[in-house]
Amino acid sequence: MNVLSELRKRFSAILTDYVESPEEFLKLIHPSQDDRFGDYQADLVMPLAKRLGRKPRELAEELVNRLDVSDMAHPPEIAGPGFINFRLRDEYLEQLLERLVQDPRLGVPLAEKPETIIIDYSAPNVAKPMHVGHIRSTVIGDALYRTLRFLGHRVISDNHIGDWGTQFGMIIYGYRHFLNAEAYQQNPVQELARLYRLVRQLIDYHESVQKQAEIKRQLEEKEAALADLRNQLQNMTEAERKKITRKLRQLESEVAQLQDDLSEIRTKIEAVECDETLRRAAMEHTDIGQKVLQETAKLHAGDPENLKLWREFLPHSLDEMNRIYKRLGIQFDFTLGESFYHDRLGALVDQLLKLGIAQESEGAICIFFPDIEAPMIIRKQDGAFLYATTDLATLCYRMETWKPDTILYVVDFRQSLHFQQLFAVARKLGFDQVKLVHVSFGTVLGEDGRPFRTREGDTVGLESLLDEAVRRAAEIVNANDDAKSNGPELSPEERRRVAEVVGIGAIKYADLSQNRTSDYVFSYDKMLAMTGNTGTYMQYAYARIQNIFAKGGVSAEAIRQFDGKIRLKHPAERALGREILRFPEAIELVVEDYRPNQLTAYLFGLANRFSTFYENCPVLQAENAAERQSRLQLCDLTARVIRQGLELLGIEVVPKM
Ligand code: ARG
Repeated sequence: MNVLSELRKRFSAILTDYVESPEEFLKLIHPSQDDRFGDYQADLVMPLAKRLGRKPRELAEELVNRLDVSDMAHPPEIAGPGFINFRLRDEYLEQLLERLVQDPRLGVPLAEKPETIIIDYSAPNVAKPMHVGHIRSTVIGDALYRTLRFLGHRVISDNHIGDWGTQFGMIIYGYRHFLNAEAYQQNPVQELARLYRLVRQLIDYHESVQKQAEIKRQLEEKEAALADLRNQLQNMTEAERKKITRKLRQLESEVAQLQDDLSEIRTKIEAVECDETLRRAAMEHTDIGQKVLQETAKLHAGDPENLKLWREFLPHSLDEMNRIYKRLGIQFDFTLGESFYHDRLGALVDQLLKLGIAQESEGAICIFFPDIEAPMIIRKQDGAFLYATTDLATLCYRMETWKPDTILYVVDFRQSLHFQQLFAVARKLGFDQVKLVHVSFGTVLGEDGRPFRTREGDTVGLESLLDEAVRRAAEIVNANDDAKSNGPELSPEERRRVAEVVGIGAIKYADLSQNRTSDYVFSYDKMLAMTGNTGTYMQYAYARIQNIFAKGGVSAEAIRQFDGKIRLKHPAERALGREILRFPEAIELVVEDYRPNQLTAYLFGLANRFSTFYENCPVLQAENAAERQSRLQLCDLTARVIRQGLELLGIEVVPKM
């Protein structure tokens, strides 16, 4: 049962007498920010009065008189110019809570109209090691998958991996020229990753050498201009100075940027030149960039040798990827990567040409849009297909195969233009019923505010990130356990298991608790803090409740069999009970705009209310059996909501930590 929806329903019944579609007004009913304004608040009177040309106070009174909420709330209060405040009856809250005790869904209703929803997330380019950038898509996508499923939708996850790109050209080239056969025998994944990095490094080296001269030239030019400007500044009046300060700042920042670029390039060059083996390899493979492209093109053209190598390499990359998913507790219904669509691309381009959707332009095949400046290129002059071509084929396949109502693409914001174009083509193809959403997200930053990298400037591998979080979690878990008043409770094995759950949970929660559209700063210390909006705090709250049960010698199952009533006498009990009942509202907010942080924010509020309750209301030492039972039920409901909420986020709990 969703209290907010119920209130809206009651309002809707009378609002239809005033306006044709009351939805926009119903949205203005919401939980009160401040308890002084009751539990829920309706701010709809002012805009409605304006629409109807009526006096707000008067309209408010009329609505309140007609509204039938006496079973739920005390008589509504009208405040200020016409806000309506509702205070729910304690008996109403108590009844709803009692119903939750036996409700496995904790009050969350199934979707009225279940939809078919495809979620496209994670989608790493395999054969390169996964890095920090893959966390967001993977974790957000998985949380949406779980939440939409929980609501009863038919949800299909499809991991659109990059298994057909240039990285395979690199590995094929590396295999032919730099293979260490013995290492490959022993640990193919590791050897392939080494080949990838080596070839990548050599390509980068040659590109850097080429770029270096040009950047140096630009830098000298800008520096000269800057010196010039500074000179002029000496003989200027105050007013003139002001005018050019902006130009000065602009130049300064351009120079700083170029210096940064140059130093990055120098690091790359030095890394190769200071290493005799690398230096020699670079000298022997001057055209490596070209060659790698040729290997990729041969693969795409069906060259048997390259295809054979690709077939040999791919399973290793997939194993590696699946190992990480397993550790993260993530599974996909389908993994149809780019290679799956390769055979369809030629026919698709022909069809788009025939339909007049695509056209030739300077030898390439393009799709132009009236309202988007850049065209979408679907075949290059040399005949090669692109990322966009594959994504179009993927869309067509999904439409034919699953007939979805909605497709969500959980992908980095930098691909917004691509998705804008993709969705526009979908409409041209006549897919106008399906809801297509780019669920975009920002960048993971390091504590210095720049994209998260290792000290050497590489992107951070996902695996090492997980290891580090778990290592730090273990320190915390061990210290906590050692400090327990009655001595440690966890065996070494349990400690390891708890550390894994806490470490992985911290990483996931830190990501999910951010507004997905902003960048966020990756900080182990913050994500593993025992207080504040962290996964660790939530898992701790859960374990604390289990500990109450253990101390009291009661099991959660036994508590659910109490026929005792739930009573909300103390304000902290009431606040906790009311919050428990808001779980369905939080879930509704998550799916409304695909924002898991709505759920973390709710859970954090719930855990805080629980803390206040626990400080003020003795549970095991309650005054009498009825009170004790009632409070134990509140504890159990809180724990269940936390557990269910975290499960929807893909985060586990442990009974002891
Ligand atoms: N492999 C792509 C990348 O790493 C992401 C793919 C996202 N999904 C899609 N259908 N385009 O950028």
